[in-house]
Amino acid sequence: MYVRHLGLRDFRSWEHAELELAPGRTVFVGPNGYGKTNLIEALWYSATLSSHRVATDAPLVRVGAARAVVSTIVVNDGRECAVDLEIAAGRANKARLNRSPVRSPREVVGVLRAVLFAPEDLALVRGDPADRRRYLDDLAAVRRPRVAAVRADYEKVLRQRTALLKSASGARFRGDRGGVDTLDVWDGHLAAHGAELMAARIDLVNELAPEVQKSYQLLAPGARSATISYRTSVDVDPDRTDTEELRAALLAQMTARRDAELERGVCLVGPHRDDLELRLGEQPAKGFASHGESWSLALALRLAAYELLRADGSDPVLLLDDVFAELDTARRDALAAAAASAEQALVTAAVLDDIPRGWDAKPVTIALHDGDSGAVSAVQT
Ligand SMILES: Nc1ncnc2c1ncn2[C@@H]1O[C@H](COP(=O)(O)OP(=O)(O)OP(=O)(O)O)[C@@H](O)[C@H]1O
Ligand SMILES: [Mg+2]
Repeated sequence: MYVRHLGLRDFRSWEHAELELAPGRTVFVGPNGYGKTNLIEALWYSATLSSHRVATDAPLVRVGAARAVVSTIVVNDGRECAVDLEIAAGRANKARLNRSPVRSPREVVGVLRAVLFAPEDLALVRGDPADRRRYLDDLAAVRRPRVAAVRADYEKVLRQRTALLKSASGARFRGDRGGVDTLDVWDGHLAAHGAELMAARIDLVNELAPEVQKSYQLLAPGARSATISYRTSVDVDPDRTDTEELRAALLAQMTARRDAELERGVCLVGPHRDDLELRLGEQPAKGFASHGESWSLALALRLAAYELLRADGSDPVLLLDDVFAELDTARRDALAAAAASAEQALVTAAVLDDIPRGWDAKPVTIALHDGDSGAVSAVQT
């Protein structure tokens, strides 16, 4: 698939942008701070409804504006699909599919299937478990749009159960049992949605594992092999994804940890506490891998995601934000080879020298055009 059109209004530094894009490779070139990454971020948002740089939507809306609009036209097997997203900080976002409003923005997830490589990816290896869970959940949702709903339901239940635990914990401190009975009901909801989310993640990890190993081998030939596994505090067989079994295991663990949860006023059980474990040889990558090894592993995770999406059917769009400059020749070549085979790759670079030599790519120069507000408002090709 490929993106034929990207339109922005009040997104990050862009007051207004209209870009006509073609299949093949396109490089956005321009000085630091001109809004190149903002373009890639907008596309990634359109694919996943989340940014790769920030956890909330507020920074995505241009300073001084009330809402941002990201519009894309995606061409998949000759069929066009238009997605418009309106991002309003602090309020629910709105979405349109082929110009008709949809009930929930989640309905547009899966229209644009993309894989993003960015400097932030180092956090996949070195960062918190939350970064790795997000990697899994974003990928699972792009592959199976239903997972986006499962994830949203789980997050809602988690928030509500946490609030209840907090108030029950306060009440217990004062000597009354208020709220504890209601907790049982929420245990059930959390276990039901949590089991579905865990099952989706475990299935995904099982599919990803051989691809990660292969990709790492390609990036770091002869090095220790890379393995990944899903780590959960719940007592289940990590290779099995029977939702009913997971649900029962979650419930049992919540019962066992009820006192600790009430004491601390937080949910201690569930997929929000899980992690994707990364190992190089016998060692965990986090805390042991060198800078170069960490980069290779992060890239391998992205390449593996690309291979899985590709195996599902149509080629995902590759988004490469400033990554070539970070890589040595071997890794550049491996990434360039993947990008060369993609139907569309959109790349950012401060200077064209950062792009592998001999790489046939169309440069799009980002230039500032000061409107009345002084904001960026045009792109020159
Ligand atoms: N909400 C916002 N409103 C207005 N401007 C913003 C907003 N968020 C970010 N910016 C501006 O966008 C610019 C950064 O854009 P971006 O990260 O896309 O740059 P870039 O071209 O990728 O630069 P580099 O080459 O350094 O990676 C910054 O100057 C920042 O001040
Ligand atoms: Mg950038």
